[in-house]
Amino acid sequence: MHNTHPKLIVGNWKMNPSSTKEATSLIKNIHKGLKKIKQKVVICPPSIFLPVLYKEKSTYTSFGLQNTSFEDVGAHTGEVSLELSKSFKPSFVILGHSEVRAQGESSSLVNQKVKYCLKKGVTPIVCVGEKDRNDSHGYFSFIENQIQESLGGLTKKDVSKLVIAYEPIWAIGKNALRDATPEEFNEVKIFIKKVLQDMYSISGTEVPSILYGGSVNEKNASLFIHKGHADGLLIGRTSLDAKKFIELVKNI
Ligand code: PGA
Repeated sequence: MHNTHPKLIVGNWKMNPSSTKEATSLIKNIHKGLKKIKQKVVICPPSIFLPVLYKEKSTYTSFGLQNTSFEDVGAHTGEVSLELSKSFKPSFVILGHSEVRAQGESSSLVNQKVKYCLKKGVTPIVCVGEKDRNDSHGYFSFIENQIQESLGGLTKKDVSKLVIAYEPIWAIGKNALRDATPEEFNEVKIFIKKVLQDMYSISGTEVPSILYGGSVNEKNASLFIHKGHADGLLIGRTSLDAKKFIELVKNI
C-alpha cells in the first residue's frame, strides 16, 4: 500500500535569486498561480529573504529553511537556527542536502540537526543519495549508511514525523548526467523503507514520506508521483520559474 499523505511539493531556491526585488516578484507570481489552482507548497528561500517574503502572506505557501544549526543561539559563525527564524514560522528544514554534504557536512552532524528540529517541532527533510552508480549496486550500501548514520537514535514516533528525500547526485542540477527514472526512484524508496523497518520496526502510518528530487520539471513531475509512487517532490531550478513551477504543480 502506498502512502496516502497529500503530496508534498517543496521548492528549494538554493542561493537564488540574486536580489530581494527578484525574490519578492518570484513569490508574488507563485502565490498568484497557486491561488488559481488551490494547491499548497513549501518554499525554502535563502533565509536572508525570509523577513521580506514572509510579509507576502498566502494560504497556499509555507516556508522552510535550507539548513539549520543544531543549537538555538551561540558561537556558530554564519549559521541560522530555528530559534532565530521562528518569527517566520518555518515548518520544514532541508537537512543533509548533497551540496551541503559536499562542503563537509557529515551524517552525524545531520543526525544532531534532525534531533534538534524534532525537539523544536519542525519537520526535517533529510536528503540522501549516491554520487554515481556502477554495475556493482554499491549505491544501496551507500544509502543504507547515510540513513543509519543520519537517522540513528530516534524513537518510532520521531521517525513517523520525518520526511526523506532521495536525491541521486548524478541527476541533480544543470550538470546532471541524465534524468533518473520513476522506476529507479521507486526501487530506492522501497529500499529506504526496508532500512527504516529494520532499524525501527515501523509499519503503516509510521513510515515517513519519501520524496524524489533531481531535475524535476513540469514534464516529468507527474511520472515520479504516479509511476514512481513518490510522496512528493523536492524541486530546485524549476521552482525559480513561477510559470513552470505552477505548471508542474498543476500537472501532478
Ligand atoms: P534541481 O535541484 O531540481 O535543480 O536538479 C534539486 C535539488 O538539488 O534539490
